[in-house]
Amino acid sequence: MSFHFDKKDGDSRLPDTRRLFLRHVAQTSPAPLGLEIVRAEGLYLYDVSGKRFIDGIGGISVCNTGHRHPRVVQAIRDQADQYLHLLVYGELIQSPQVQYATLLAANLPPSLNSVYFTNSGAEATEGAMKLAKRVTGRTEIVAFNQSYHGSTQGALSVMGDEYWRNAYRPLLPGIWHVDYNSAEALEAITDRTACVIAETVQAERGVFTPEAEWLRQLRERCTATGAMLVLDEIQAGFGRTGTLWGFERYGVVPDILLLGKALGGGMPMGAFIADRSAMWALTGDPVLGHITTFGGHPVCCAAGLAALQVLLEEDWIGQVARKEALFRRLLVHPSIRAVRSSGLLIAVEFDSFEKNKRIIDACIEKGLLTDWYLFAPQCMRIAPPLLITEEQIEEACSIILACIG
Ligand SMILES: Cc1ncc(COP(=O)(O)O)c(C=O)c1O
Repeated sequence: MSFHFDKKDGDSRLPDTRRLFLRHVAQTSPAPLGLEIVRAEGLYLYDVSGKRFIDGIGGISVCNTGHRHPRVVQAIRDQADQYLHLLVYGELIQSPQVQYATLLAANLPPSLNSVYFTNSGAEATEGAMKLAKRVTGRTEIVAFNQSYHGSTQGALSVMGDEYWRNAYRPLLPGIWHVDYNSAEALEAITDRTACVIAETVQAERGVFTPEAEWLRQLRERCTATGAMLVLDEIQAGFGRTGTLWGFERYGVVPDILLLGKALGGGMPMGAFIADRSAMWALTGDPVLGHITTFGGHPVCCAAGLAALQVLLEEDWIGQVARKEALFRRLLVHPSIRAVRSSGLLIAVEFDSFEKNKRIIDACIEKGLLTDWYLFAPQCMRIAPPLLITEEQIEEACSIILACIG
């Protein structure tokens, strides 16, 4: 076997990072944004030329406490001075994991008291589906059209969009897709259903919230049939919707909660959380019912713990509703067909993807990073760090309005 090394990439030239990015970093789209960010702080990203961008999407609902919050960075440094990886998940007592799981449990309903840390949101989805099968002894799953739960085979199986999942068939059998907020969904839940998996807010559909009464009925139907209710708060959690957890405002408690994204304060993490009596199902027959080498990495737990402490101690979540209202007041234009929001998870709808993309590209030119939603490409994504100020919201909205033209 011979390796061909293009001399143009050799030592004699300064590295052209963009060219090497396209050549050696696996691509997922033919036209990546390709901005080269060299520094990030608070609300802002800075590229290689020194240009400053308002981060209007917070790493897709990850950076709720902003980029490089000093307490998060300090926690990472402190933990790096102690230890990095020690052993696969679950074998050793690692204080950052214990402290973070304890703080999460203290801020959740009593039945959500046992935390399984994973590396990503998709892996949390996988773990929850496996757990529901073990607890109930059933195999069927009810999921929702236009929902997103991750990109692995199992998570793709419950994803609610045929275009995105079809190329990967065969997927998991026994999955029923039904409409969110529909009576049909309630009827689909039977005594063969292991779990129902729903986003508390359907983000990638372009921000659709559940009807409160429907979500309560969904909970009741799960209880009546013995199916587990899994709520995916990977995007909605950690204050994004204006309360620490999205489900709080609906008065329902899931049997399994999925967390990710902001969970790690900027470090990679996911988690599925349930009552410890249910979680016990993963310990036997077979033992090691869900395993991972890196899940609950001590540095990620230390970072996430610090980020959650910031959210609990500083008043960012309390300001979300006011900031949401300001966005809604400012984003008025004949070209905007609708604005849907749940806290600082906002979709600004135009009449086509082409129009949206033209505006997004123009915003980036003017120093505002935004994006579109997976199942709603005509909708602009706005999901900034929660610490965005009212002046910064005004600046972001004036850029958007100027770019609509
Ligand atoms: C609602 C929801 N669930 C699950 C996931 C998957 O998380 P990850 O990309 O960390 O696997 C995402 C990611 O966008 C998400 O928005």
